[in-house]
Amino acid sequence: MRGVAFWFFVTAVLYVIAGMLFGIHMSVSQDHSLAPAHAHLNLVGWVSMGLFGTYYHVVPKAAEGLLPKIHFAVATVGLWLLVPGIVSAIQDNGETLAKAGSLLTVVSALIFLATVIRSRAPAWQ
Ligand code: HEM
Ligand code: HEM
Repeated sequence: MRGVAFWFFVTAVLYVIAGMLFGIHMSVSQDHSLAPAHAHLNLVGWVSMGLFGTYYHVVPKAAEGLLPKIHFAVATVGLWLLVPGIVSAIQDNGETLAKAGSLLTVVSALIFLATVIRSRAPAWQ
């Protein structure tokens, strides 16, 4: 695994480690109020980023060019805004971060849609 596939996958593993520590902290403190932030760190950070990385590894053609790198940047910044944004929204400190993170996360999915379609093999392959 290399290139953008590697970066998606290695950061996904970092997110699941952070997500697990977050989960253990919730269990130990018996305060589950931030569970949606934990859930999305794991599901957008680990599951979705891991899936993106796996796709780019299995279909190397999809990883070519600038677009997958832009995808990685947008997905990363989106997650970095989304998770603290959920914390902020739960704690009634405003929803701006969560909105920005949500928007970038959707844009990242749209870019991924484009890279998947772009990498479609011709009918004769
Ligand atoms: C060491 C590992 C983990 C620990 C200790 C942990 C702990 C927790 C705790 C205490 C909650 C709150 C439960 C509640 O209040 O109902 C929770 C919720 C949740 N966790 Fe984890 N978690 C871990 C890993 C993961 C992973 C790897 C994922 C996903 C890939 C995940 C997904 C979720 C989801 C989706 C929820 C929200 C469930 C709901 O709202 O019904 N967790 N977790
Ligand atoms: C733009 C991206 C996303 C936004 C804005 C978003 C938003 C939300 C919101 C508002 C909730 C309700 C939380 C609550 O009841 O307190 C929720 C719950 C949930 N979402 Fe997402 N979500 C996103 C992406 C995803 C993705 C990609 C997954 C799975 C791969 C996912 C899995 C879940 C699950 C399992 C729950 C229920 C657990 C919980 O209540 O914490 N979400 N999401």
